[in-house]
Amino acid sequence: MSHSDLDKQARSILIENDQGGYTIPTRGLYPYQWNWDSVFVALGFSTFDQDRAWQEIEMLFEGQWRDGMVPHILFRKDDPSYFPGPSVWGTDGGAIPSSGHSQPPVAASVVNSLVENDRTGRAPEHAAALLPKLMAWHRWYLSYRDPDKLGVIAVIHPWESGRDNLPDWDEALRAVEVRDIEPYERKDTSHVDPAMRPHKEDYDRYLSIVAACRKVGWDPAKVAQTCPFFVADPGVTFIFLRACRDLLALAERLEAQDEAREIRTWIARMEKGTRVLWNSTVKAHVALDERTGRQTDGVSSASFLALYAGLRDADILSALQAHFDRIAARVRYMMPSYDPDHRSYEPLRYWRGPVWAMINYMIAKGFAEAGDEARAERLRADTADLIETSGFAEYFSPETGAGAGGGSFSWTSAIWLAWASPSHAQEPA
Ligand code: GLC
Repeated sequence: MSHSDLDKQARSILIENDQGGYTIPTRGLYPYQWNWDSVFVALGFSTFDQDRAWQEIEMLFEGQWRDGMVPHILFRKDDPSYFPGPSVWGTDGGAIPSSGHSQPPVAASVVNSLVENDRTGRAPEHAAALLPKLMAWHRWYLSYRDPDKLGVIAVIHPWESGRDNLPDWDEALRAVEVRDIEPYERKDTSHVDPAMRPHKEDYDRYLSIVAACRKVGWDPAKVAQTCPFFVADPGVTFIFLRACRDLLALAERLEAQDEAREIRTWIARMEKGTRVLWNSTVKAHVALDERTGRQTDGVSSASFLALYAGLRDADILSALQAHFDRIAARVRYMMPSYDPDHRSYEPLRYWRGPVWAMINYMIAKGFAEAGDEARAERLRADTADLIETSGFAEYFSPETGAGAGGGSFSWTSAIWLAWASPSHAQEPA
């Protein structure tokens, strides 16, 4: 298929997955509005309909909780084909039924980029209305996912990381006691091959964490104190730090001085804090279980987001370049979600090996900004190849390039349009 046919197909996937102002990740497997999916989708829409891009983000923020949190799923209507639905979560934090935790905060970064690339003249107005909401969400992260002010962001559930069954969660998850869960029937394994999805033992624990947080009424301070899972995540930490820098740019552009001053203190705290995630044996940033003080021992795709977060230490850059080249010699398509040399790597099981287009986009941005155009371009070209070969799949095998998980996937289409498509790359900036 030619690039322009793929461009057309990507646009029609977004339009078909549009539910009237917000977009589902894919039909069947994910029938609701997901947080970071929607934000990447906005980036995709912005290539052909900027008003629609703003609407996507504004509808996400309609679900913001009173405490500032923006939930990972908004259950705008009941859909029995998805589990766990609203009755399992038992939340009451905002105007729309939702899950009880968040997802990687990419919103401020995309909002800033919508403003920078505005063709409508209406961006400043949209951005000004979103600024206090973004500030509230970022404050929530700092208060309740970094209560000890370490300068790193913890996740209270593997799903909050957006990288659901990453090997980094294994040990912390094993320590979660299976309790207070009703008999249940999974729905994910009826939509896609169970060999690509998390195991039942993991699922029992996912639900036990939900039950524990529900017991404290999803009160964020109590959740931070008592949740059986509390792991600092390099993925969310780096995405958050990057989002803070983009939020600062936005606040400065809007001449919001008080906000800008506050955000600068966040950035300073995070820049210092990320050091606790550095594993000097592995030579990369890894996860840190805040309950036990133990670091994990594997390089994940999020380790490479240090550059996207703006960490400009020459040692970090050269360590990541070395990891990049080592991994590139092991797989055909970059960037596997987990190190292929690690014992936990599995090329087709969800976040234990496969490649995701939107992660490649962020890693490449970081490499390019660090002056490493060659590795950035390698990521773009691999992403384009994967999509040209296997279509708009949820994720891809780094070894064979086979598409896996759900099909006609929204964020894969959005990333094609906004970054990977060769026809996009030829357009003037
Ligand atoms: C899975 C992914 C998560 C994503 C969701 C919808 O749960 O792990 O990151 O947001 O699917 O695509």
